[in-house]
Amino acid sequence: MAGFTTERLLLCPYTEADLDDLTSLCGNPLVWPLVLHDEVSPRSPKFRERLRLSMERAVFAAIIRLKSTGEFMGQAMVTVTDTKHFLEGSFAICLLPKFWNNGYGTEATHYMVDYSFRWFDLQRISLTVLSSNLRAIAVYQKIGFRIEGRKRRFWWMSGRWDDIFLMGILYEEWAARELQWTFGADAIHHHVHPCSLCSPVFQPHYCLYSEYLH
Ligand SMILES: CC(C)(COP(=O)(O)OP(=O)(O)OC[C@H]1O[C@@H](n2cnc3c(N)ncnc32)[C@H](O)[C@@H]1OP(=O)(O)O)[C@@H](O)C(=O)NCCC(=O)NCCS
Repeated sequence: MAGFTTERLLLCPYTEADLDDLTSLCGNPLVWPLVLHDEVSPRSPKFRERLRLSMERAVFAAIIRLKSTGEFMGQAMVTVTDTKHFLEGSFAICLLPKFWNNGYGTEATHYMVDYSFRWFDLQRISLTVLSSNLRAIAVYQKIGFRIEGRKRRFWWMSGRWDDIFLMGILYEEWAARELQWTFGADAIHHHVHPCSLCSPVFQPHYCLYSEYLH
């Protein structure tokens, strides 16, 4: 199946055949409170339709599979709401619990953020995450997302109120981060030019990159 490959993952295109796996992923009691922010209830045909639409509307929707076995692991997507200006993408990711804490989330997020900045010419990628979801926050911070805002008392969960964070990463922050990941922490001292990362259409943006290296 056509798609993308990372070290340990396959990022496959979504097909209708994935809907059963997606529905049970979202119905998993450990998963749904972290991603859906709605009441748990048996998932109706309308819910499947909602899932189908969200996958189809995304500019980059991936069914994540384990490269070694092809097993379904979860999904991730980048959505662009303002398709006229294409400035901002929204990222979301969700894996089955048995795959948590093995670095897979970081691997998939890194690939998809990287790909989206390179090819969609976005200025920023945003996401929302519950403030108690420390695992997800750790992943996003590793990739370079920063906390930009906090909505208090967003969701009642496990007997307490939870806040929600808005997180974001800017194009220049990604570029600086990529330089370091690709060429090491000393990239800037060795005068590695950020244009070597990217296609010529994006090069003007890179003049700002050095401000974001630290
Ligand atoms: C969020 C998610 C995609 C992360 O994927 P993952 O494969 O579990 O994450 P990784 O293994 O790549 O990284 C997890 C990091 O969190 C850290 N972590 C785990 N539990 C933590 C905790 N309680 N507090 C702080 N950090 C924690 C780990 O140490 C690891 O960081 P490290 O590699 O620097 O040690 C996955 O857990 C998931 O799908 N969760 C359910 C759905 C969800 O929450 N989606 C995000 C909604 S915004």
